Amino acid sequence: MQSYSLIAPAKINLYLEIIGDRPDGYHELAMILQSIDLADRIDLRANGTDQIRVHCDNPQVPTDTSNLAHRAAALMAEQFPQVYHKYGGVDIAIHKRIPMGAGLAGGSTNAAAVLVGLDLMWKLGLTQSEIQELAAKIGSDVPFCVTGGTAIATGRGEQLAPLPSVDFLYAVLGKHRSLAVSTPWAYKTYRQQFQATYAPDPDALAGRRQRFHSGPLVAAISQRNGAQIGSLLHNDLERVVLPAYPQIAELRQAMAALDTLGVMMSGSGSTVFALVESQVQAEQVRQRLRAALPDPDLEFWTTRLTSSGIQLAH
Ligand code: C5P
Repeated sequence: MQSYSLIAPAKINLYLEIIGDRPDGYHELAMILQSIDLADRIDLRANGTDQIRVHCDNPQVPTDTSNLAHRAAALMAEQFPQVYHKYGGVDIAIHKRIPMGAGLAGGSTNAAAVLVGLDLMWKLGLTQSEIQELAAKIGSDVPFCVTGGTAIATGRGEQLAPLPSVDFLYAVLGKHRSLAVSTPWAYKTYRQQFQATYAPDPDALAGRRQRFHSGPLVAAISQRNGAQIGSLLHNDLERVVLPAYPQIAELRQAMAALDTLGVMMSGSGSTVFALVESQVQAEQVRQRLRAALPDPDLEFWTTRLTSSGIQLAH
């Protein structure tokens, strides 16, 4: 087949703890990542040229080589030059629904979709772990986006351990259109302020990782206990992002005043989410937020937590 359409879901962080520094300049993380059914669609089509071309229906999305979907295709072409030569270039059309600069892994999930799609289009037959190895070269969240669902992510975020699905829960997301938080800035600022809390050596790091694996949020997820999950949400990056962005703090406060399972910022922001138990409750929370915060710059979504990563579109 010469064309493929893929669904690329966004993610939220149910948990994000920064536990140490890494020699490569990144951070050692302990996270629980969760796919949601807010998703982009990625169409791949062989274009009969020797070029990779990215198109997007949102003019704010860069379509040059800085786009992670472009980087994913370039990486595949570099890794499999003979296959690239045989099949030729590809047009990548991104139908954007996931907001940018949101902490929802929008760019990462687009890259994951390109890896999965080109593996099919070029009949490579790569295993999931081979695709995830390539994914890790593009970004820390890209391996998770390939398989999605609910997972513990450690290391840079690329070492994954699947958890039981919590797809019985829903989330309301809120984000200011004009606010995009830079992820490198958030991590750099965190290091400047909180480096003293980092694990001082590999043994301490391994201990913290181990405690996290057997910790209360992992147990609550295994027990499918929504109330516990909501009360154990955590994100270290809130400590630097909320003081620097009062609008995000205000949104978080408005969400926390409502009756939900729990509220947290996702990734490095600027999205804040509230976990709820049903679609009906999600809709009620969205309406109350809209009434409490009439700011036209604010956008809200209701979404279900999902157990799927990249999927073929039907
Ligand atoms: O891997 P990715 O390109 O998505 O990461 C974006 C930025 O987030 C990195 O440049 C780095 O500043 C920060 N980061 C980090 N430690 C991680 C993941 C990301 O410091 N484990």
